[in-house]
Amino acid sequence: MLESKNLNSIPDSKLWGIANKAITLMEQGHDVVRLELGRPNFDTPQHIKLAAVKALDEGKVHYVSHLGIKELREAIADRWQLETGMKIDPNKNILITQGGTEGLFISYAAYLNPGDEILIGDPGWISYFSAPVLFGAKVVRFSLLENGRYRFSIDEIKSKITPKTKMILLNSPSNPTGGVISKKEVEELAELALEHDLIIISDEVYHRLMFDEAEFYSFAKIKELADRVITVDSLSKTYSMTGWRLGYVVAAEEHIRHLLKAHQQLGATCCSFGQYGAAAALRGSQDCVDQMLAAYKSRKNIVTAQLDAIPELSYIKPQGGLYIFIDASKTGLSGNEFAVKLLEEQKVALMPGDAFGSSALSYVRLCIAESEANLAKAMERIKIFLKNRG
Ligand SMILES: Cc1ncc(COP(=O)(O)O)c(C=O)c1O
Repeated sequence: MLESKNLNSIPDSKLWGIANKAITLMEQGHDVVRLELGRPNFDTPQHIKLAAVKALDEGKVHYVSHLGIKELREAIADRWQLETGMKIDPNKNILITQGGTEGLFISYAAYLNPGDEILIGDPGWISYFSAPVLFGAKVVRFSLLENGRYRFSIDEIKSKITPKTKMILLNSPSNPTGGVISKKEVEELAELALEHDLIIISDEVYHRLMFDEAEFYSFAKIKELADRVITVDSLSKTYSMTGWRLGYVVAAEEHIRHLLKAHQQLGATCCSFGQYGAAAALRGSQDCVDQMLAAYKSRKNIVTAQLDAIPELSYIKPQGGLYIFIDASKTGLSGNEFAVKLLEEQKVALMPGDAFGSSALSYVRLCIAESEANLAKAMERIKIFLKNRG
């Protein structure tokens, strides 16, 4: 009764529905294989942890610049230049955030007014669809599942643009499908944004986790977009630092000024000593990223090889990220039914597709960021589950 109207109009997060069921089963003593969350299973690499511990020991425990510590902003600027070939100013173009989650939230806070529209692909990451509503904005969905593939139709997007459309949110590689937006598509979308005066929020939190076949192309590489792209990135997935809550946004100086205002209201600063760890992550050897990525590739190959041999299940071939998006429609079950029954009967937790949007009701998402042994165990149990159903 007392909640804000905007808060009341968003559903409870579906993220924890299946996860809580899995936790309850574990508490009852069951051996549950949990592949429902997007959480790398690796420890954070040691040199990153040591840099944070050193900062703690040195008393770096106080409030820091609202933009984030200079060392981290400079490390981001250098990595940015390496990856995009473009120079950015660590004092003007970067803001450290509490993960990509905050980067997205403050982008909405800074630009969305009641009645504004934001275009978001469906299926998309669970949090995308709710947060804009808190600012009174309307989420307009476009399809990302043409013919069971991660593809959008530029004509569909065009047809959904109205005078109220303020921004478009894009995510590559995608959670949940693992699809990657090609250079040609980035260029098409850039043209659209310029033509219709749209801000692009580009969620690139998985861009370092690319598989062999595809190439990642950042919107930030398109010079004409310089004043209308907000790039959201994070340390969470790349360096297995989900619990550190550190990410950043890169944007034109004017955007950073607005985003900073929202950031100051939200948390004011991010964890001081954690930021020294993050700087070490970006500055230090990237072998740890290569090693984790090699493991993800191998795990993806193990799971897809098994899926290829299961006629009742098909999947979108992931080009990057941490997930395999599986279509269970041939089983006669919805994605939600599949996930619930699989958990109850075989103690394997997958995320139901409906958490990612109404276009994915027949899907479940499997996270490959688990040990090979657990993935193999899960696949065996899935086969038994399907066999038992006849
Ligand atoms: C597509 C996408 N964007 C952003 C995030 C936010 O991650 P974090 O806040 O840990 O950086 C996630 C987390 O799962 C995600 O999947």
